[in-house]
Amino acid sequence: GEIDGKLYEPMSRHTTLLVGGPAQFWIEPHSFYGFAFLVDYCRERGIPVRVVGRGSNLLVRDGGIRGAVIHPTGGVFSEVSVGTRGEITAGAGVRLKKLASIAGGSGIGGFEWMEGIPGNVGGALRMNAGAMGVETFDQVVRVTFLDEDGVIRTRERAEIVSQYRNVPELRRNFALQAVFKGKNDSAENIKARWDASREKRKLSQPIAASAGCTFKNLEYIPAGRVIDSLGLKGSTCGHAAVSEVHGNFVVNQGGATALEILTLIEFIQEKAQEERSVTLETEVKI
Ligand code: EPU
Repeated sequence: GEIDGKLYEPMSRHTTLLVGGPAQFWIEPHSFYGFAFLVDYCRERGIPVRVVGRGSNLLVRDGGIRGAVIHPTGGVFSEVSVGTRGEITAGAGVRLKKLASIAGGSGIGGFEWMEGIPGNVGGALRMNAGAMGVETFDQVVRVTFLDEDGVIRTRERAEIVSQYRNVPELRRNFALQAVFKGKNDSAENIKARWDASREKRKLSQPIAASAGCTFKNLEYIPAGRVIDSLGLKGSTCGHAAVSEVHGNFVVNQGGATALEILTLIEFIQEKAQEERSVTLETEVKI
């Protein structure tokens, strides 16, 4: 699109919540060096840089994003290669679902939990995405990333600190590729776990546009249960709603704005604080 003669890219096209204003610059590098060059170019000129993958855990405000948004896709970023001993190398732009399906098709088990995750490898590494009691870093062998000095490095899993839905080092370092590991298994076992994950997800999670779970679970209680017990399921703000299916999902019922979604998120946080003394921390990146 164009605003005042300048090119722009609506972020609503690049987020699963389907909201968000324009990115000033939207760039799709296809190689590690292209990526590194872009980051360096922007940093030298003081242009803010962000990396966005599938946008499945992201809420972009209606005002959009000033600076450059780098979207690693195509080329090396979309490649998956199956190695020996259950190892699989995948670029930052590969969907987890695709990684899971290639692993399963190659007789490598342990990736089935990824079947319903809409995000890409890069984002999953950054936030240590998880489901069904498994986390991304449970399966990471090593990660290749661009460090703060613009150097491409590879680090072994043991040298990387990973927490629940957070990998501090990948906040300023950008993940480019990773090697994952699973276990050789029979096609029947893999299919059984895949189907179990799919069934559970279909029964417990909405299909409407969302960014997955909105808040991090607390150590002693899941955020969804808190929101449910507050009677907030079905609450709306404009076209944004707390899902009737799962309390921790804020969904876009069609035509919602980022402001409506943010307002609903803040409303939930206030209620949880006032009525349960529970501080809900967003899992979705805002
Ligand atoms: N619950 C309710 N009411 C609700 C929703 C949930 O009472 O409206 C209860 C359920 O009955 C259950 C418990 O809360 O006893 C946990 O619910 P669920 O099994 O749906 O899992 P969750 O803890 O809410 C986590 C991840 C999901 C992941 C699922 C499935 C977080 C914040 N969420 O959800 O991840 O898909 O487990 O494994 O850790 C995401 O990260 O975006 C995400 C969706």
